[in-house]
Amino acid sequence: MNKQLKAVIFDLDGVITDTAEYHFIAWKQLAEELGITFDRAFNEQLKGVSRMESLERILALGSQADRYTMAEKEALAHKKNEHYKQLIARMTPDDLLPGILDLLRELKRQNIKIGLASASKNAFTVIERLQIGAYFDTIVDAAKVKNSKPHPEIFLTAAEQLGVHPSTCIGVEDAQAGVAAIKAANMFAIGVGDKEALKEADYIVETTADLTYDAIVRAFYRE
Ligand code: G6P
Ligand code: MG
Repeated sequence: MNKQLKAVIFDLDGVITDTAEYHFIAWKQLAEELGITFDRAFNEQLKGVSRMESLERILALGSQADRYTMAEKEALAHKKNEHYKQLIARMTPDDLLPGILDLLRELKRQNIKIGLASASKNAFTVIERLQIGAYFDTIVDAAKVKNSKPHPEIFLTAAEQLGVHPSTCIGVEDAQAGVAAIKAANMFAIGVGDKEALKEADYIVETTADLTYDAIVRAFYRE
């Protein structure tokens, strides 16, 4: 058996910290201003999806896809982002989700590389607020890739920068699009959250508290 775990590549929003909730709050407010209401089930489709694509999906839901010019859409996306930036400005290291700091520490202790693969242009700000930048051997954010999740590019880029083969990586995601990206990259996919929404993952935990080093290593080698 020559299978070996060399790296764990994390999504940010909804995995390391609960910024998925802030994205939801900010989009929901903007949508309501446009007369569009959406629920958490619809929100699953926005997770892991870029800012502009998220706006397009919300407008399509409200049958408003053709109502705005490109410049107006940019202004709407900007407005959502300003609200989101207000929400993340208050974050502190206490906003790390349960178990994440222990997991990062244990991965370091075991010499397993750590990557971040986030579609967010705010990723560096969030990592700074959480004060965990030193744990990451590479950070790949939206600025560094052309294709959005579910395309595997962001995870493959992270693996390349870490100098490891995708088959030796675990990817951790809370989004349907993210799990699909990990699978398309030929990595072992761990989903955090709803079993039904993340059913494509190789291993699913309900919350990050179950994301222990032992549990993920056991799951990886069991495959
Ligand atoms: C992540 C989140 C999405 C968000 C995207 C872009 O993938 O899961 O909800 O839309 O990043 O984030 P940004 O901060 O650039 O608007
Ligand atoms: Mg996410």
